Amino acid sequence: RALPPHTFILFGATGDLARRKLYPALYDLFQDKLLPERFAVVGAARRSYTDESFRDELRAALEEFGRNSIEPELWEQFAKHFSYCAVDVRNPEEFKKLNEQVRKVEQAFDIPEQRVFYLAMAPEFFGEVALHLYDSKLSDVKGWRRLIIEKPFGRDLSSAETLNSQLREVFEEEEIYRIDHYLGKEMVQNIEVLRFANSIFEPVWNNRSIANVQITSSETVGVEDRASYYERSGALRDMVQNHMLQMVMMIAMEPPSRLKTEAIRDEKVKVLRSLRRFSENEVKAHVVRGQYGEGPDKSGKTLPAYRNEHGVDAASNTETFIAARLYIDNFRWAGVPFYIRTGKRMSVKATEIVIQFKDMPRMYFNQEGQLLPNLLVIRVYPEEGISIQLNAKRPGTDGTVVPVAMEFSQEPDNSPEAYVRLLYDGIQGDSTFFTRWDEVSLAWKFVDPIAAAFRDGIPPLSEYESGSFGPAASNELVEHDGFVWWPVT
Ligand code: BG6
Repeated sequence: RALPPHTFILFGATGDLARRKLYPALYDLFQDKLLPERFAVVGAARRSYTDESFRDELRAALEEFGRNSIEPELWEQFAKHFSYCAVDVRNPEEFKKLNEQVRKVEQAFDIPEQRVFYLAMAPEFFGEVALHLYDSKLSDVKGWRRLIIEKPFGRDLSSAETLNSQLREVFEEEEIYRIDHYLGKEMVQNIEVLRFANSIFEPVWNNRSIANVQITSSETVGVEDRASYYERSGALRDMVQNHMLQMVMMIAMEPPSRLKTEAIRDEKVKVLRSLRRFSENEVKAHVVRGQYGEGPDKSGKTLPAYRNEHGVDAASNTETFIAARLYIDNFRWAGVPFYIRTGKRMSVKATEIVIQFKDMPRMYFNQEGQLLPNLLVIRVYPEEGISIQLNAKRPGTDGTVVPVAMEFSQEPDNSPEAYVRLLYDGIQGDSTFFTRWDEVSLAWKFVDPIAAAFRDGIPPLSEYESGSFGPAASNELVEHDGFVWWPVT
């Protein structure tokens, strides 16, 4: 179903996110005929471009980051919807110019006043941009308007509250779409279908049958050129506050009263309310933090330690790895550890969720080979699929029991990029897979005490070798409870 007519006003139009993700996503939508005839994109950023040179940049971005090669005819049709307006967002005067331009394209393409404002820029400007949208009357529309904003949403509860109240002076909560791109991932969205469209899971989806849950998101890249952001953020704010907790919520939420936006978000929020908040002593017991040291890359070349990366303080204590044991203190999950781990410069790039079921009594198959537990593995990246580990008899007469796997894999390349879905949903006004303010604020309430403990040096920062799977302390965290991390595949 094609999206409604709209004007897409993109702040940060020359930035990395726009080039890597947003333009390719818009092009995919256009190619799939999901963008309406009556749409326009107005790019806004500081650099001075003409419409022509902006479109050249757009084309270069599509060539570099697009999924498919560009079809010349389609490109012509696509490009004509794009124009550019140089705007320094600190200067309210320049919003007037932007306003004129938006009105001009609305007239040219006969678009009703239905506007999407997308802030793909440094977060310190979010509040100011909202204010200037108001002052310049850009946000004053006869139709609808939506504000899509990128992370990070604050750097702690108090800054998030400030930002939120700035935005709320101009936009209603229902008009604000806070992006967490993990919620756009096919398999993260599939968790809800898996759980609520199959009768075999719900009866065992609780502490009577599940021994633990393991959520891993590992990356091979290091800090790249983002030191100035990452030094102030670290893995806790960069990955745990948002993506990791979102996956925890999707796994742990109760069935919503209906599959509708607010009902789903209500249930997710309840998970965060039950998530145990840690005292400093509990941070020591339940959280591991690490930082990558040197290590070999695939070709044997030595990769630099985090502290030697460009722009990083040589004595930096920023964590590039976190593992933690979380508890959701509610009726369903009491006593079940949720282990999470995420880090940069690890051996593989993978995102995976493993549900480990409790052991059967051992008396029947008390053989030397270990009887492995049942596992439900949800593969989010690089493959998208599900596998279930069972025990079965090895064919033959020796009666050996061996683990076997039942696999389901999505066709490679069949599922759209997270940003394609999120743009589609956001423009359409479906905020199910965006984060609501109470989710954000509760996530910070969980994260803030951990950040405070980190500042006090708790737990100690362990170095791990680049290309490994994090510090030994991460394994010890799980082994302490009699478990192991299941290797990501
Ligand atoms: C972003 C973080 O939100 O997620 C990055 O800021 C991280 O540091 C990225 O690399 C990981 O996303 P993905 O989709 O590649 O797993």
